[in-house]
Amino acid sequence: MTSPTTFLPVLERIAEEIEHTPGRGRPADYIPALAACDPRRFGMAVAEPDGAVYGVGDWREPFSTQSVTKVFTLALDLAREGDELWEHVGREPSGNPFNSLVQLEYEDGIPRNPFINAGALVVTDRLHTRTGDASGTLLEFLRAESGNPRMSYDEEVAASEAAHGDRNAALAHFMASYGNIDNPVPVLLEQYFRQCSLRASCADLALATAFLARHGVRADGTRLLSRSQAKQVNAVMLTCGTYDAAGDFAYRVGLPGKSGVGGGIIAVVPGRCTLCVWSPGLDERGNSVAGVAALDRFTTLTGLSVF
Ligand code: DON
Repeated sequence: MTSPTTFLPVLERIAEEIEHTPGRGRPADYIPALAACDPRRFGMAVAEPDGAVYGVGDWREPFSTQSVTKVFTLALDLAREGDELWEHVGREPSGNPFNSLVQLEYEDGIPRNPFINAGALVVTDRLHTRTGDASGTLLEFLRAESGNPRMSYDEEVAASEAAHGDRNAALAHFMASYGNIDNPVPVLLEQYFRQCSLRASCADLALATAFLARHGVRADGTRLLSRSQAKQVNAVMLTCGTYDAAGDFAYRVGLPGKSGVGGGIIAVVPGRCTLCVWSPGLDERGNSVAGVAALDRFTTLTGLSVF
């Protein structure tokens, strides 16, 4: 039996080390609403499978979750349609930036994986077809898993994304030309931008990710994914969750993880705990500099990883 705050001393040590680390990268500036974030903000939370959550720094501060939400839409769609999804999106690392168009034409409009933007658009499209409200389904799920009924979308960020969304629109139209998008592109983009604008804290996201540490079982004890599907989602996070830096992330951290350009990263220690770290300064590949460093230190100090 472990104490409900087993890893708190480790988190405190990491926060202290990060505080004294110079160089935090730069916040994303292609969405004006994100550019104003202070790169010295830092928070980190751990959730245990029984629902205990604790953290350090800004761990209760809501931030723009961005592509971290792609894990949850993938799980929600996989739970509904099962393996048919994989006929419409692959599960191989792309080796390209998250918003790249180049592979799509060679590969007949089937995106490499669900975590690059093209793949996430396909997943959100399919979830929207199945539920009639992809972003509403996502929000309901996240509120339930985190126990935070105040979690919500940030309409200002969503509008900012839409105003600077030419590349996502191009991806969606291009895939539609191959018959790989069901809904009208403007409807899909509205859903996708709202999804990306979700504001949540490290505490919220560590709790919301815990179904992946519980092998597919939700906070209320019901099952979202089969054990095998939970393994699949964790595997795709490990191989594709940090864009074209997934190899380096696996090497340094050794856990399934998913980053977003708001500076958040979630990570899973299957069967043991989930983590969420946030710091808005990004490296050139779009991952939080302090976030990756903190997760690297966590697995080094605790010896926990999937390897
Ligand atoms: O699609 C975009 O540009 C963003 N809203 C999401 C970006 C993000 O976090 C990186 N994605 N894979």
